[in-house]
Amino acid sequence: MSDTIAPQIMPQGAPPSAAKPAIGAATSRVDGRLKVTGGARYGSDFYGGTNPAHAYLATSAIARGRITRLDEDDARKVPGVLEILTYRNVGDRIKAGKIFSQKGYMGTSIAPLASDRVQHGGQIVAMVVAETFEAAREAAHRLVIEYAAETPSATFDSPGLKVDSAEGGSREGEQPGEEKPKVGNASAAFAAAPVTVDQHYETPTQHHNAIELFTTACAWAGGKLTVWESSQNMYGFQNGLAEQLGIAPADIRVISPYIGGAFGSRGSLTQRTALVALAAQLVHRPVRLEATRSQGFTIATYRAETRHRVRLGAGQDGKLQALIHEGWEISSRPDDYKVAGTDASTRIYACPNVDSEVTIVHADRNTPGFMRSPPEVPYFFALESAMDELAVALKMDPVELRRVNDTMHEPIKGLPYTSRTLMPCFDAAAQAFGWSKRDPRPGSMRDGDWMVGWGCATSVYPTNMGPATARVILSPQGTVKVQTAGHEIGTGIYTVVALMAVSGLGVRIDKVTVELGDTELPPAPVAGGSNSTASIATVVAKACEQVRDRIARAAATAEDGPFHGMDPARLVLADGMLRAPNGVSEPLETAMGRTTNGAIEVYAENIPHDVPKEGLKKLYQGQSAMMGGAKMKDRIQFAFGAQFVEVRVNVRTREIRVPRLVGAFAAGRIVNPKAAKSQLMGGQIWGVSAALHEATEIDRRAARYYNDDLAEYLIPVNADVQEVTTIMLPEQDTQVNDLGIKGIGELGNVGLNAAVANAVFHATGVRVRELPIRVEKLLEAAAVPT
Ligand code: MOS
Repeated sequence: MSDTIAPQIMPQGAPPSAAKPAIGAATSRVDGRLKVTGGARYGSDFYGGTNPAHAYLATSAIARGRITRLDEDDARKVPGVLEILTYRNVGDRIKAGKIFSQKGYMGTSIAPLASDRVQHGGQIVAMVVAETFEAAREAAHRLVIEYAAETPSATFDSPGLKVDSAEGGSREGEQPGEEKPKVGNASAAFAAAPVTVDQHYETPTQHHNAIELFTTACAWAGGKLTVWESSQNMYGFQNGLAEQLGIAPADIRVISPYIGGAFGSRGSLTQRTALVALAAQLVHRPVRLEATRSQGFTIATYRAETRHRVRLGAGQDGKLQALIHEGWEISSRPDDYKVAGTDASTRIYACPNVDSEVTIVHADRNTPGFMRSPPEVPYFFALESAMDELAVALKMDPVELRRVNDTMHEPIKGLPYTSRTLMPCFDAAAQAFGWSKRDPRPGSMRDGDWMVGWGCATSVYPTNMGPATARVILSPQGTVKVQTAGHEIGTGIYTVVALMAVSGLGVRIDKVTVELGDTELPPAPVAGGSNSTASIATVVAKACEQVRDRIARAAATAEDGPFHGMDPARLVLADGMLRAPNGVSEPLETAMGRTTNGAIEVYAENIPHDVPKEGLKKLYQGQSAMMGGAKMKDRIQFAFGAQFVEVRVNVRTREIRVPRLVGAFAAGRIVNPKAAKSQLMGGQIWGVSAALHEATEIDRRAARYYNDDLAEYLIPVNADVQEVTTIMLPEQDTQVNDLGIKGIGELGNVGLNAAVANAVFHATGVRVRELPIRVEKLLEAAAVPT
């Protein structure tokens, strides 16, 4: 297949059983067949043409200092080497950009190969271009690089850290500087509260480790650049790269039809893309880079380690009187990346006195970035562990503690929740789990050699939505093409878009072709903040309605047709027919044949009413104009869930097993329950991963990662995750958007890490406040006597 033509991204026909699906009907993925047959083309499947040169990165061996010697002689002798990019020949040819959360496009503000300065371990220090991947790799290993190393600051407690006091309130894609959540007098209320918890919690560094590696292919033709790179923000890549290279965005096309896992790691530009583009210019042919798994740990972003202090004060009735959440987050030396999860963690429970503080701690590390539920995963580990500790201190059931603190208004400004189905989620999950049979005493539930523990926690995720555009083309034959530059990060957006066309135009799903993943298509927002379904479904529905309206108005005015004189607003498209309320109908093709000249093509834009008009311009510029969560002026909008976990801890070895997960979630209207269930289930499983397995280990002296490969970066296998129950509760929300869609991409993995920790406490009496919970932490501590 050639890469220079548009990729084939048309979904194949759906099976007959799915011939007439609708919004809310469990529907198999329209791209499922392509995916299982290898027909779906991921970013890494593109080579930029038939004869690409191959690039290989060399990365720094130190975390802080300067390159003192860079000898290319040996490397240049490798047969097939075409070019070697270093700071000497790149320098200022590629501009630095701002990071995404500060209205830029980058994952780091460090320009690639700009100088001899090294600012983190594994920073790109050279890129070799050669005839083959093997030659490029060989040459990269033959580069002789010497450094003047300075002592790096690796992480918390390292010497030489730079500490910033940062106001809370920064969310994905938004400027920092909002007021930090605070109300009442929290420290006085905490001091006066009859029952208190004051604890510190810690979450580790984690890397996304998507199966698809970080690859890029670039080709120039007639002054125009095409980039094939898996992306969660194609328009952002286009505009950011244009800034870096000093060319017009219109001269860059980004193609990304399928994405082999992203989780936030492909939302901002890495340094590699501009380097590959420059290399392709220098060698006058397409260049294709494939970074190694281990390089992926330092050339892209990651979830940084966090620390928390949570203080909860409550009355004997369990009602919160004080909630103080302080967070500390690692960022890089130059960048202010932060997640500031206090924005959500202070607004979930009723409490008259709330305070919060988020502090950025700058270390000599690559800049962290978005990773699935960036703020909520670490901050709700802390909050929901503390809530469990409070329940223990109160001798109250943890579900009941959530119930007495349930609220339809967030406590900071008193804004109403658009909908909140938290306690029904707890009740549904508790019932499915058998929670009523729980003996609350830690260590009381035994099964032979296994200490059994049951724990639970709240899950939340803000409901976001941004401007979006789409084009819908209805052919005279009744086939539909929908085009929007959305991102298929595995969540099933091809199917969501197809379902919207099915429901909007009354056609069968196998008549619908969906095109995504190309900057030649009308822009859709960054696939982040779980906004894609709400944003894209809304604009596709709007475009389809405009198509229907054109057909209906033409039909109502056609004197030779059966709809003449009828109210076009009341004509509907269903089952391949145009129908009137009085029963008159005719096939869509007939109606179109008589009333329209050929295909109907509609381009639609949607700007959510909370988003300023310039949001559309930002969309075209690839910047986030999303609104939602706790950022709204008049309301607060979140999706909710309840996570329940059974753990078993071996009395002798302290081996931890998780035989059961039960989650119940409510997230407004679910467009495709089949894909949504998988998505939530994947989140639950990731929660187990975060609780028990995942951590990127840091060499504290060198500020470098130890376990930067899939052999040593632990993730769960089938034996680690056994029974998973995922319950979706119906929820109607008329305020979040016209369709009532909240989004579920990130909800499933929030809170589960705390539910596991709470279950481990219940099993053993040992409270582990630093993730991940591994055998050794239960051995060291004095667990329940055997
Ligand atoms: Mo997500 S971390 O908002 O891609």
